Amino acid sequence: MVRITVSDMDKVNPDDTLLVIGLAEDEKMDYLRQNAKFNEILEYIDNFKEEHLSQIKKYGKSMIFGLNFRGSWIKVMIIGIGEMNKLTSDRVRHLAGLVSLKCKEFNFSRIAIPPFYSEPRYLESMIEGLVLSQYEFDDFKDARTGNQQNLSYYDNCIITIITDGSQRDYTQTQIDKSMAICEAVFYCRDLANSPPNVMNPDALAASAKSLESIQNITVEILDQTQIKELGMNGIISVGKGSENESKVIVVHYNNSKTDENPILLVGKAVTFDTGGISIKPSDRMDEMKFDKSGGCTVLGIMRAIGKLGLPKNVVAIIPAVENMPSGSAYRPGDIIRMYNGKTVEVLNTDAEGRMILADSLSYGISKYSPKCVIDFATLTGACIIALGTNVAGIIGNNDKLIQALEYTSKITGEKIWQLPLYDEFLDLLKSNVATIKNIGGRTGGTITAAAFLSHFVDNIPWAHFDIAGTAWTQDGTAEKSYNPKGSTGFGIRLMVKFLEDNQEFL
Ligand code: BES
Ligand code: MG
Ligand code: ZN
Repeated sequence: MVRITVSDMDKVNPDDTLLVIGLAEDEKMDYLRQNAKFNEILEYIDNFKEEHLSQIKKYGKSMIFGLNFRGSWIKVMIIGIGEMNKLTSDRVRHLAGLVSLKCKEFNFSRIAIPPFYSEPRYLESMIEGLVLSQYEFDDFKDARTGNQQNLSYYDNCIITIITDGSQRDYTQTQIDKSMAICEAVFYCRDLANSPPNVMNPDALAASAKSLESIQNITVEILDQTQIKELGMNGIISVGKGSENESKVIVVHYNNSKTDENPILLVGKAVTFDTGGISIKPSDRMDEMKFDKSGGCTVLGIMRAIGKLGLPKNVVAIIPAVENMPSGSAYRPGDIIRMYNGKTVEVLNTDAEGRMILADSLSYGISKYSPKCVIDFATLTGACIIALGTNVAGIIGNNDKLIQALEYTSKITGEKIWQLPLYDEFLDLLKSNVATIKNIGGRTGGTITAAAFLSHFVDNIPWAHFDIAGTAWTQDGTAEKSYNPKGSTGFGIRLMVKFLEDNQEFL
């Protein structure tokens, strides 16, 4: 993984370093010119042909060139930041990612970059862009030819953020923080990108167990016998068709100074969703390896808050199952008594996510009496129809909680949009033979799925993220330098920031 350091300009060795300078269309970058060296370089650039310069200053454009600086040859990259007054945290993140990708393309492994923005709060986004863009999933790429250890570009890459002395401590603190979060995003991406023949419920549980090496984290794995004994028949039913045993992963993070009740996180981890007996069409079924993304996101969140040492108590429940068709699979028509005693008429075995989330939510709420509950799930294709592949759906029973999450999401660039949970949607789940049925018809699919979940959360403040469109890059996903192909880790940065900031709910 890339290393990020902090230094002032005088300590950077220009001989082996690529200097990155952001140029805006509508600003002269006065804050950079305060440094004598940068001022000299900028004056050199000022002499470029105006029509040329105005092209490079456009948002996302870049150019690399050499210049003779005080008698030695230095390498400079200009990154165009467009109009300074249009700069947002997400633009900073994307631009920093572009810088990182260009450096990789031309194999520059020593990079120095002064902030290309004037607002200190953008530092976090810059680090995220520099690091997150460098993710690659290559665990399975090489034929096994002995134990060759080829150091990748990333392991050799050092990016130095240039600051003056006064910002040094702030910058270093932010680097440490952002690196912990980026590592957690990489961890989530690795898990979610892993193929379904490898990353089955047992392997996911084993990986979660390894989080115990982080202080204040303990991990409990409930096996199939325990799940059955507890009466979590929704989970048992969905997993019945698979040769791979279902697991429920419970991660405890205990670091509050008081013995306050925890926050509960729940993440759907269907390691492969064939649809079961209500089998899916084969076209792009491979993408259903990403149906474990909610669980992977929650594991990423736990890893990040553990590394950061947030003073909180958080419990995470991740039901891990594989949804397969077989002689032992659950069927349409089955009626299942869930953990909380309600019964569910299964009308489509492909609506499996809500079955496993329901048990996890009601189990978590009755066992841990949380202050609030937040779940992440690739729950409905309907969410992609409604909101596309760049925005996650959010639904819940507490508008204040959702507003707080919306506020944080604007900072982290993980876009969300609330859908309404009106009573009418609950009516669509009425069953003739059970408390409810597991599908609500063709209309409003994302909301009826959430309405189903609401039967299992009582009155605890609850928010549900449907990340079907955003958990991995797919048709229509906007090109973002910091989201390489595959799993995005959507929701981790948002949730970690939320847990850091929002005292009202926590
Ligand atoms: N995992 C899918 C939802 C999904 C589909 C996520 C495509 C991402 C991309 C979920 O288990 C599912 O199959 N949902 C059904 C529900 C339906 C049967 C009511 C769906 O969306 O079609
Ligand atoms: Mg399904
Ligand atoms: Zn699913």
